[in-house]
Amino acid sequence: MPNITCKHFGVCGGCSLLNLSYEEQVAKKRAKLQEILKDFWTEEIPVTVTDEPKNFRNKVELGFCHQVKWRDDYDKKDPANKTRPLEFEQTLGFKLKGRWDRAVDIEECALFNEKLVPLLAALRAWAKQENLEYYDQRKHTGVLRHLMLREGKNTGEEIVVLFVTDDFNEKTFVAAVESVLPNANIMAAVNNGLADTAAPESLRVLKGKDHIFEKIILTDESGKTVREVVFKLSPQSFFQTNTKTAQKMYSRVRGIVKKIAPKRIYDLYGGAGSFSLSCADLCEKSVCVESVAPAIYNGIENAKLNGVSNVQFFCAKVEDFVKEQPIERKDALIILDPPRGGMHPRAAKAVAESGVENVLYISCNPVTLANDLKILTQHYEILHVEAFDFFPHSDHIETFVQLKLK
Ligand SMILES: C[S@@+](CC[C@H](N)C(=O)[O-])C[C@H]1O[C@@H](n2cnc3c(N)ncnc32)[C@H](O)[C@@H]1O
Repeated sequence: MPNITCKHFGVCGGCSLLNLSYEEQVAKKRAKLQEILKDFWTEEIPVTVTDEPKNFRNKVELGFCHQVKWRDDYDKKDPANKTRPLEFEQTLGFKLKGRWDRAVDIEECALFNEKLVPLLAALRAWAKQENLEYYDQRKHTGVLRHLMLREGKNTGEEIVVLFVTDDFNEKTFVAAVESVLPNANIMAAVNNGLADTAAPESLRVLKGKDHIFEKIILTDESGKTVREVVFKLSPQSFFQTNTKTAQKMYSRVRGIVKKIAPKRIYDLYGGAGSFSLSCADLCEKSVCVESVAPAIYNGIENAKLNGVSNVQFFCAKVEDFVKEQPIERKDALIILDPPRGGMHPRAAKAVAESGVENVLYISCNPVTLANDLKILTQHYEILHVEAFDFFPHSDHIETFVQLKLK
């Protein structure tokens, strides 16, 4: 039985498991994870849950859609349908399940904070008053395209970014946002590309600053705070969407790194250096390898912000980095945190054959994790597996695997 309800469930693409209670969701995901990893690990996998599964997300991206109105009475055989003119509607919300061209007009939501719904109502009223057309995904017409909201769960800072194709009345837009979020930073982004992604060609500040700060609070096994790391997040920066549960995972990894006590860490697929910065005080040097340049710039900035000087950032694909600079320090620790697609086989093989004693693998996709483990376990044994539910109400789960050289 669900313990969080939403009237859009079943239609909206935002959630896929809201028909189950949170405990049932976790049990279902754990069972699926055990099944996928059964060739490698048969012990029960502990799952760290999200303490407050309602409104846990720190970021959402919504679409403005100009779309044909759905008619419940539509009957293909009815000859009247051939002559009945199409009716259109404008919606603002998450995409419909399995659709790229239609959005649900969100009136409630279990994912982002409780200000989301009043903000959407204020923006719909603003768009109507300004006579602004929502984007038509099929015809590529309209002005209003995407809306991004990000909040620092540990800092309370907020940023709102409106993605548009053309000019609009910035003053009235700022006033509409302020009516719900008086302290939010507000930006406008131009996006004329055909792809349906909130990817800006240019970004402009309308109010406040072009970033927010978020903090992760790292604790030891007794729950005592041992380190805090501050992150500067621009609209495009990658950051885990569930701050509170992510910091439990970073704390757990930090605890294991402390026990291993490596002199050097290789933080591969490092993003803006979350693992390197969380563990910088536990090693002499950390080498963070990431292929996206803006993430590296964020990482360098975040290192300065946190007074960290022993992290070296490399902008490279891991599969190229390991070819050009083979990891020779056998006493190093390798942390792997690849994207959903998993590791390039060349990277997995290089790590498997590196001879490095300790490897930690963090994965957001158990299927690709299992593929990579096929290669890694040729030379490594698995010491421990656990999971973190970063993504309540969806099928996704984060898995952590500790490996040791055989
Ligand atoms: C799951 S994120 C992990 C980020 C970071 N470890 C964190 O905790 O915030 C995966 C990262 O790998 C990067 N990436 C994807 N493919 C890559 C590759 N072939 N080589 C290096 N980095 C890659 C992505 O840009 C992304 O920042």
